[in-house]
Amino acid sequence: MDDPVETANALSSIVGAAHVLTDADQRAGYETDWTGRYCGRCSAVVRPATTAEVVAVLRYCNDHAVTVVPQAGNTGLVGASVPRAAGHRASIVLSMRRLDTISDIDASSMQVTTGAGVTIADWQRAASAGGIDTPIDFAARDSATVGGAIATNAGGSRVVRFGTMRQQVVGVEAVLADGTVVGSLAGLPKETVGLHWPSLLAGSEGTLAVITAARLRLVPRFEYVTTMLAAMDSVEAARETLALVRSELGSLDSIEMMFPEAMELVSVHLGTGAPVDVPAGGVALLIECADHADPTAGLHAVFDTIDGAVATAVATGGPRRQQLLAFRDRITEAIAAAATASGTPTYKLDVAVPVAAIEGVVDLARRVARRQQARLIPFGHLAEGNLHLNFLGATNPDEIADTVLPVVASLGGTISAEHGVGVAKTTWMHLVRSTGDLAAQQSIKRALDPNGILNPGVLDPSMGRVDDDQVP
Ligand code: LAC
Ligand code: ZN
Repeated sequence: MDDPVETANALSSIVGAAHVLTDADQRAGYETDWTGRYCGRCSAVVRPATTAEVVAVLRYCNDHAVTVVPQAGNTGLVGASVPRAAGHRASIVLSMRRLDTISDIDASSMQVTTGAGVTIADWQRAASAGGIDTPIDFAARDSATVGGAIATNAGGSRVVRFGTMRQQVVGVEAVLADGTVVGSLAGLPKETVGLHWPSLLAGSEGTLAVITAARLRLVPRFEYVTTMLAAMDSVEAARETLALVRSELGSLDSIEMMFPEAMELVSVHLGTGAPVDVPAGGVALLIECADHADPTAGLHAVFDTIDGAVATAVATGGPRRQQLLAFRDRITEAIAAAATASGTPTYKLDVAVPVAAIEGVVDLARRVARRQQARLIPFGHLAEGNLHLNFLGATNPDEIADTVLPVVASLGGTISAEHGVGVAKTTWMHLVRSTGDLAAQQSIKRALDPNGILNPGVLDPSMGRVDDDQVP
């Protein structure tokens, strides 16, 4: 293993001393994830500005057995972008934030090239300046980056219309552990010359290569957006609504679900009453329709035929729309505030199940939460059956996962829908991946990163359980 001072000096000669952070207080923000649950120490934070610098840094680390934790926005929720807790080899955090260039918009191909460190919000602003839009949106947009979104195959609210991040990546440039640059940013929508790097790297969580840039798909910008917050008297009514709006409204852009516990938490966090009251046993839906013509009448017409919508609030812009959106967008922030106030990090599951199974899983999670006297905050993305189950004040996270995840798997669901596996969910990968599957994944990892320097422990089923909150 290399000496940390020697490593820092060598890496300084590549990226400049100002971009190798070794002081504890400078490193601190890179060493803990933003939920406060996952943390570890690195010997240095290294901030390259170009692909060539990433190549040189990785070559050095590969030759000197220094492990590398790629990080960008550090908004991940599964511990994949911060150093591991004690017991792992010395590592650096490779911060990708300085790779933040954005090319001109190509309006005919509807594509743009961005550096891995470009935030989702900056990608959106660039598209918007070109009169178009991005197919991806989620609450962490101001910090989360393109590279991170590809690495986790992030989803968010527009998946029902445009798919996940994987489907938006027309080309990728990435650097393997030994410094080899792979991929292409040509942006060819049709190309079948062997393996497809975007497909291989989307969801690889920094374990196979470091993504440096991407060629990304863009979508039309819709002039009219109608936002509806609807209180449904049952989850079954929400499911019927989903079927109807999907078949009747080509303008459907997102359909998010917030259970009463989430509405209550946000309401207190914002210090304002909820625009609609959700009855116990019910769920709130935040529906957005976007089109080149006003979709409001169409949305109302569909709701006129729906039983089970007990109240609706509608806005087409201005502060009223922002107020409705806040009840969806600010849930994670409200959860973080509650966790900070209580001093206990929140335990988070991000599962997906067939839509018909949502209610049963939420009820199971409520029972588990009660057993631990934890507070469950459930919300998610209805169309994908994607439930974010947040346990505030959980005393035994493993018991929660051991109870909920096998049920989710037996229902044909998944243990991680859009946040990834990181180090948080490795123990349960076997529930949704066969032994052969996991062995093949490990073979690919060994082939591309034979020295195991890239994000060790992440997506690694042999890792065992993680000791949460363990500061080495
Ligand atoms: C969201 C993140 C937590 O849906 O996935 O807000
Ligand atoms: Zn989500």
